Amino acid sequence: MTRIVLFENIHPSAREVFTAAGFTDIVTHAGALAGTELLDAVRGASVLGIRSRTQLTSQVLSAASELKTVGCFCIGTNQVDLDHALEMGVPVFNAPFSNTRSVAELVLGEAILLLRRIPEKNMRVHEGFWDKSAQGAYEARGKTLGIIGYGNIGSQVGTLAEAAGMRVIFHDIEAKLPLGNAKATASLKKFLGQADVVTLHVPGGESTENLMNAEAIQAMKPGSILINASRGTVVDISALHAALESGHLSGAAIDVFPTEPKSVNEPLDSPLRGQPNVLLTPHIGGSTQESQENIGREVAEKLVTFLKLGATKGSVNFPELSARDPEGATRILHVHRNVPGAMGTLTSLMAENNLNIISQRLQTRGAIGYVVTDVEGPVSDSVMEALKANPITVRCEQIAV
Ligand code: NAI
Repeated sequence: MTRIVLFENIHPSAREVFTAAGFTDIVTHAGALAGTELLDAVRGASVLGIRSRTQLTSQVLSAASELKTVGCFCIGTNQVDLDHALEMGVPVFNAPFSNTRSVAELVLGEAILLLRRIPEKNMRVHEGFWDKSAQGAYEARGKTLGIIGYGNIGSQVGTLAEAAGMRVIFHDIEAKLPLGNAKATASLKKFLGQADVVTLHVPGGESTENLMNAEAIQAMKPGSILINASRGTVVDISALHAALESGHLSGAAIDVFPTEPKSVNEPLDSPLRGQPNVLLTPHIGGSTQESQENIGREVAEKLVTFLKLGATKGSVNFPELSARDPEGATRILHVHRNVPGAMGTLTSLMAENNLNIISQRLQTRGAIGYVVTDVEGPVSDSVMEALKANPITVRCEQIAV
């Protein structure tokens, strides 16, 4: 029986996918467990499903001796010891695309609100002032939206913005196919000088750290707006603060910060707090009911496709093999140490045990190789034991088809 253990209130859409695929042994835990409670909870699990708060350390993974695969029902995967999972032959999956639309909608909404100076006007009315001035308020129609990072989210933002009548330009380090009438601009400086609203959709990490530093912000058009719903490290917050104070920028929307509070009661420490035409949100760009439902479905489908077909496409730590229908009676999933002659050893072992190979696919990643072999007829337990016992083998399973 394949036991699935889910933590942290994963959306019910995941359970629907598992049960529809015939996996009904599902244990759920409402919260994130830790310590001995977590170690006890993972014992006997074939599949673990977590969100961002459950720490799957090497110790926890090792305690799950039956483990076949892990699903992170979120975007980030740094709560899992991915290298250890790889060494155990366990692929880890996540949901990188499920909240793309949620972020894109928020960004377009923010651009429109900031162009109209709504954050400031909203506050004034709350304070009892009825200031009807059109000063500094503009339509989005005909304005230029500049997108830095034209990937999944950036390109969606562009499509939505065009529907609102905006002109879209983008800057990316890779050549990208423009959607709609979007135009690529190779020079960042030239790009920054053209956009009325600049929105950031690049990955985090060293290569984009302080991409929007004082110099880049200075290169932006006077009176323009900066939106960051990517990663907190991409914008130099003090340089942004200075540009808002001086009036060089007319507004900003920031969803992600270099250092973010750990809990609801911890206040955000940022010079941007209290700035008039600035929207501050608590890293909720991708947080909607729809995205949670999509995440539940997307990750559960990847886990089911692995369990049923051995497919690892989209795994964050494992050699990737796409889903393909079985061609024989039995599919053997073999994870081995990536050493010279490993494939020869495996095929010889299969031949010695009278297995007739119909098709075979190999992919390697670092120290690990992954082979999916379809063979004629059933495979006995003793043959499986022989495959498992070979020193090159990390793990070996069969799927009867
Ligand atoms: P993606 O990988 O599809 O796109 C990133 C794009 O940025 C790629 O086209 C890449 O070539 C480009 N890029 C990388 N370095 C660049 C540079 N220095 N200059 C210009 N372009 C560069 O990523 P996706 O899914 O669109 O996500 C974008 C960002 O949004 C990520 O940082 C992600 O963590 C963040 N995100 C934030 C959420 C939130 O709640 N605020 C939710 C989901 C994602």
